[in-house]
Amino acid sequence: MKQYERLLLENKAWAAEAVEEDKDFFNRLAKIQKPDFLWIGCSDSRVPANEITNTQPGEIFVHRNIANMVVHTDLNLLSVLEYAVVHLKVKHVIVCGHYGCGGVKAAMTNHNFGIINKWLRNIKDVYRIHRDEIDAIGDDEKKTDRLVELNVIEGVMNLAKTSIIQKAWKYNQAPHLHGWVYGLKDGLINPVFEMPANTRIDDIYEYDDL
Ligand code: CO
Repeated sequence: MKQYERLLLENKAWAAEAVEEDKDFFNRLAKIQKPDFLWIGCSDSRVPANEITNTQPGEIFVHRNIANMVVHTDLNLLSVLEYAVVHLKVKHVIVCGHYGCGGVKAAMTNHNFGIINKWLRNIKDVYRIHRDEIDAIGDDEKKTDRLVELNVIEGVMNLAKTSIIQKAWKYNQAPHLHGWVYGLKDGLINPVFEMPANTRIDDIYEYDDL
């Protein structure tokens, strides 16, 4: 059996098992999705949103990229955010990083990664903002892990700076924003930051006329 064929075979088994447990499973899901959560996570294969939160298809709308970045010019992320907030009306947006993130580690080096440099630049900017705090940490692994946390916090704040979130806060008092960090070593999520709807942000980023 070819390597990829295992995935197709497992898919058949999974679909059969899902119907066996609940015969309307796919009929129900095929009609509508009504997730309460938008997940912005790292592309890392070890951090799958549904598995680590023990949720089912239909429960979480997912966007993933290297190092779970919230970049205000990223059309892909903004489209996902707009769709999730305006059309699906999710109640919570979760930015979930993970300790030991390869993207964050790479950003802390001076290696030239070619095209990926442009993406990692965003993490280097987070490092620069928090340089004093991170440089005061002696251990390299702990340095990376603190930058992972700070990157998640900056990501949540970047969400609050978008007109998409500000408009939703003004008219719907939702969604709530969360910054979480998953531990590869213990499988546990550490909630590190929270911004309830209508949290005030630095007023230079606040839009009028929403
Ligand atoms: Co990662």
